[in-house]
Amino acid sequence: MVIESTSIEVIETIEELQQRLNRNERKNATVGFVPTMGFLHEGHLSLVKHAKEQNDIVVMSIFVNPAQFGPGEDFESYPRDRERDLRLASSAGVDIVFIPSVEEMYPSDGGIRILPGVQANMLCGASRPGHFDGVLKVVLKLFNIVDPDRSYFGLKDAQQLAIIETFVRDFNLRTAIVRVPIVREEDGLAKSSRNVNLTAAERSEAPAIYRALQIGSDLFASGFDPETIEQRVGESIVSNSSGTIDYVKMLSYPDLGPVTQHSSEVILACAVKFSTTRLIDNIIMSTKDGTYVQNDDEQ
Ligand code: PAF
Repeated sequence: MVIESTSIEVIETIEELQQRLNRNERKNATVGFVPTMGFLHEGHLSLVKHAKEQNDIVVMSIFVNPAQFGPGEDFESYPRDRERDLRLASSAGVDIVFIPSVEEMYPSDGGIRILPGVQANMLCGASRPGHFDGVLKVVLKLFNIVDPDRSYFGLKDAQQLAIIETFVRDFNLRTAIVRVPIVREEDGLAKSSRNVNLTAAERSEAPAIYRALQIGSDLFASGFDPETIEQRVGESIVSNSSGTIDYVKMLSYPDLGPVTQHSSEVILACAVKFSTTRLIDNIIMSTKDGTYVQNDDEQ
C-alpha cells in the first residue's frame, strides 16, 4: 500500500517485505533499519535522519512487541496512533514502514527463547525479568525479515543497545549497529513515547531526573565514587519530584560491569516510577585526556 500524497510504502506482511527487500532485487542499495514501537517522537526521527544520511533505503518497523512486556506492565496502555506515525514517518523520509499484527509476527510459539547474558542482570533487566529475552526475540526476527545493512538504536535505551551490540557480535548477525544520541525536550526530559502518560504535575517534575544525572556526572568528574554518586542522584530525584526510584546505578559501558580505572566509558543510569509511568534516562561519560566528559545529546 502507498499512502496518498506521499511515497511511503506500508507493508503489513513478512512475505511482502521479504520480497520487497530481497538482496537480489535491491542490488547495491543499502538498507538502514529503524525498529520502533511507534508513537513516534523526535528521538525516533533522529534515528531516521541518521539512517537516511547513511543508506539508500530507510525501513522503519512499528510493532508494540508483547514479548517484551511482563505481567502487569503497560502493554495495553502503551500509546498507539497508526495514522500519526505514518504521517511523521513519511515526512521524515522513511521509504518503507513495516507494521505487522501480533498474529503476523507470532503465529505460533515453539517455546524457543533467546537468553541474554550478564548485561541483562542489572538495571531494567533486574526489575523487568524476561524483558530483554522479548527484545532479542523480536529484534532477531526483524533483522531476519528486513536484512538491514545498518540498524539504528537510541542511547536512551542504553542497556538494550549494549545487549543488542553483544548479540550481533556474538552471533555474527549481518547488520551493523549504529548508536544514536538521546534527544531531549528543552527542559532536559528525555523524549519518550511514555511521556504522554505522565500527569501534568508529573510532567513538570520529570526534568528533575536529568538534572540529578547531571549533578552525578559533575560529581564523577570531581572524583566522587560511584556509590556516593548513586546515593546523591537518588536523593536529588526524590526531593525534587514525586517519583520513586527503581534504580540509580553507575556502571562501566557497554559491558555493564563495575566501574574501574580501566573503564573507558561509564554510564550513570536511572529508572523512576511515577503513578502509571516508568521513565528511564542516562548519561554516558567517556575518557578524554585522562578525565571523563559527558557524551553529547541531541537537542
Ligand atoms: O526500543 C524499542 O522501541 C523496542 O525495544 C524495539 C527495539 C523496537 C524492540 O521492540
